[in-house]
Amino acid sequence: MTSNHLLLRGRVLSFNAEPEGPEDTAAYTYVEDGAILVADGRILASGAFDTVAAQGVAAEVIDHRPHLMMAGFIDTHIHFPQVQVIASWGAQLLDWLNTYTFPEEMRYADAGHSGRMAERFFDQLIAHGTTTAAAYCSVHKTSAEAYFTEAARRDMRMIGGKVLMDRNAPEGLRDTAKSGYDDSKALISEWHGKGRALYAITPRFAITSSPEQLEMAGTLVAEHPDCHMQTHLSENHDEIAYTAALYPEAPDYLGIYEQYGLLSPRALLGHSIHLGARELEVLRQSDAKPVFCPTSNLFLGSGLFDDAGLRGQGLTNAIATDVGGGTSYSMLQTLNEGYKILQLQGQKLHPLRAFHWITRGNALALGLEHDIGTLEAGTGADIVVLNSAATDAMALRMERAETLSEELFVLQIMGDDRAIAEVYVAGRAQKSRS
Ligand code: GUN
Ligand code: ZN
Repeated sequence: MTSNHLLLRGRVLSFNAEPEGPEDTAAYTYVEDGAILVADGRILASGAFDTVAAQGVAAEVIDHRPHLMMAGFIDTHIHFPQVQVIASWGAQLLDWLNTYTFPEEMRYADAGHSGRMAERFFDQLIAHGTTTAAAYCSVHKTSAEAYFTEAARRDMRMIGGKVLMDRNAPEGLRDTAKSGYDDSKALISEWHGKGRALYAITPRFAITSSPEQLEMAGTLVAEHPDCHMQTHLSENHDEIAYTAALYPEAPDYLGIYEQYGLLSPRALLGHSIHLGARELEVLRQSDAKPVFCPTSNLFLGSGLFDDAGLRGQGLTNAIATDVGGGTSYSMLQTLNEGYKILQLQGQKLHPLRAFHWITRGNALALGLEHDIGTLEAGTGADIVVLNSAATDAMALRMERAETLSEELFVLQIMGDDRAIAEVYVAGRAQKSRS
């Protein structure tokens, strides 16, 4: 058989809207004996096995029963040069940056180190079922080169950018307003829109950028409106106070990014925890995307993200790991901690909404729902295969699970990389291959 078609058989779950509650069955498609037909990196069809198989396309059948197939997970905020920072003890944000993170990121000036770590970083994403991420690279152009080179080698839909940081950081970890602009420009022309790569203009946060640099970042945003912009916002009280001292004229933290023209629907604002009423209104008007980073917010003691409050303003929140402030690459573990942060505020994260969030929801936040986040025909074949009984403890609990929602909740609370049975990127199996 010369066909390059694959027919993946198993239980199939795909969302077409955000579930409003447990009874909202119109928001998703779930098929017990389902299939996904894949060719040339894209999904040709998905649905009932009999229906998809009856299309008569010659295909190699891969039987994943009894596992559950869904769109690959999307991580909307992660730091590539922090693979060896994760699990660094005892500090909150600013001390954590100065003590652990900045010294580590210096090592990415070396192209060899960046290349080796990029390979390991992408291995971790795949192991945890993440097929798309928006990542911060280090200040060095080499780190972004390594990142995009490795993403292209794997044909992954990845967003990334070199961080812009020209002050309040050690020598060797600072660019200048001009060099940051020039390097970003060069990276955009080399990588943005090449294959599946997308560039994010990445001022790290207001503390490490001079006004001149933020102005340059605003120029980049204006010159490249189809690029994303990613930064950090209102994560920690000491950070907010220091930021206010550095930008005394700004009405508030978000007002700085607003003043320099950084806000748009493509702006990703990591953390967005401690916000005032004016900032909420600016978020609403700009349609910028707050990014919830649960494991990081707990690990660094940063605070509790007000998901319901932001959603109540009509905002679209994304969710992410924030490794290495975050403590797991797993979007399942991210949902686990997210559930608990919302519990502390009397808010709920139902498993149907949770799994929508890490797939189609994050795709919507990134403006990429035409390519990722669902199993719709025509989208990229980025697929995760989940084993809900991956550990003894999960198998034991699953003996008493009767509904899809119960099964999803077991994955949401107990799942991690062990629950990822297989991952397809652009139609190619990644786990069995390695
Ligand atoms: N704020 C500025 N840089 C960082 C970072 O690397 N991690 C986190 N969590 N917050 C930041
Ligand atoms: Zn971050």
